[in-house]
Amino acid sequence: MSELPTPAATPAAIVDALKAVAGNPPKVRASFAKGRCVRGTYAPSDRAAEITRSLSFTKPSRVLARFSVGGGNPGVSDTNNLVLRGFSFRLGDDTDILTETAPVHFARTLDQMLAFLEARIPGADGKPDSEKVRAFSAANPETLNQAKYVAARRLPGSLAGTTYWGVHAFPATNARGETRFIKFKVAPVVCDVSLSEDEARTKSADFLHEDLARRIAAGDVRFNVMALLDRPGDPIMDVTLRWPDEDNREQVRLGTIVITSLEANEACDGAIFNPVNLADGIGHPPDEIFAARRSSYTISLAKRR
Ligand code: HEM
Repeated sequence: MSELPTPAATPAAIVDALKAVAGNPPKVRASFAKGRCVRGTYAPSDRAAEITRSLSFTKPSRVLARFSVGGGNPGVSDTNNLVLRGFSFRLGDDTDILTETAPVHFARTLDQMLAFLEARIPGADGKPDSEKVRAFSAANPETLNQAKYVAARRLPGSLAGTTYWGVHAFPATNARGETRFIKFKVAPVVCDVSLSEDEARTKSADFLHEDLARRIAAGDVRFNVMALLDRPGDPIMDVTLRWPDEDNREQVRLGTIVITSLEANEACDGAIFNPVNLADGIGHPPDEIFAARRSSYTISLAKRR
């Protein structure tokens, strides 16, 4: 019997694979399916214009945002430490930034992303073939970078108390017309909140939402939006890699987001946070993974409508 040809790694095939890994739950996002819509405000720092001329980052604006738990299963438990947490936000109308609780993606190319997902599609017993996953990981070690980052850290104990990353290298053009690459890091102002395994065991499957509501009421949900600055030779095309010495990079605070209220989920679910919605002053990252995000989100939206 001849082998079936491997399907091309198109954005549509990726969305199908994301859905299949989660067991094809209907009418939900292909990724980060569980989430909570919120509103807030953004205030720029006085240094934002050194990095970008984007009016989204240099002027105050209202914010629509969504916190989420990773994977395509809307019933995932908030105590699951194998999936990421997400934070998507829209500054005014013109810029959407999507971030997650890991600084790297799990695949360098689209072919690799599709193969990573396909190896994890559950079989008839509801579980992925662990031998297939092992073989794929051995042949593609960089696809473990994200999981290793997560495994080395404690469980996020609050959506308001964990750090989120934009992952890609974004070209930023400042008021003088100078362009350099930055990475977005969204850091909680109040403090990091994480849980030990014992503490996590005492938490309910939806504890993050309850925690969020309480902290919003207390005025505690604030994030600094940071730009990490590039250096010559940074691997800007490879989203599975951090930049050398990334944690000690020079960084500039672009501004601060304060989340002020919960919002009906319909306000976030009717459309997408679209990674390509970026006002002049922040360009599209040049890697092939970002290029595929252009249409993936629209395809997912069409499927869940
Ligand atoms: C590399 C960094 C990435 C980050 C930080 C990221 C982050 C996110 C976040 C936060 C969401 C939830 C959006 C929301 O709250 O509405 C999301 C959704 C989604 N992501 Fe990504 N993602 C990444 C890469 C990708 C890639 C490479 C693809 C596909 C090629 C992809 C496909 C999707 C899809 C299909 C959705 C659901 C969209 C919807 O139905 O609204 N993502 N992503």
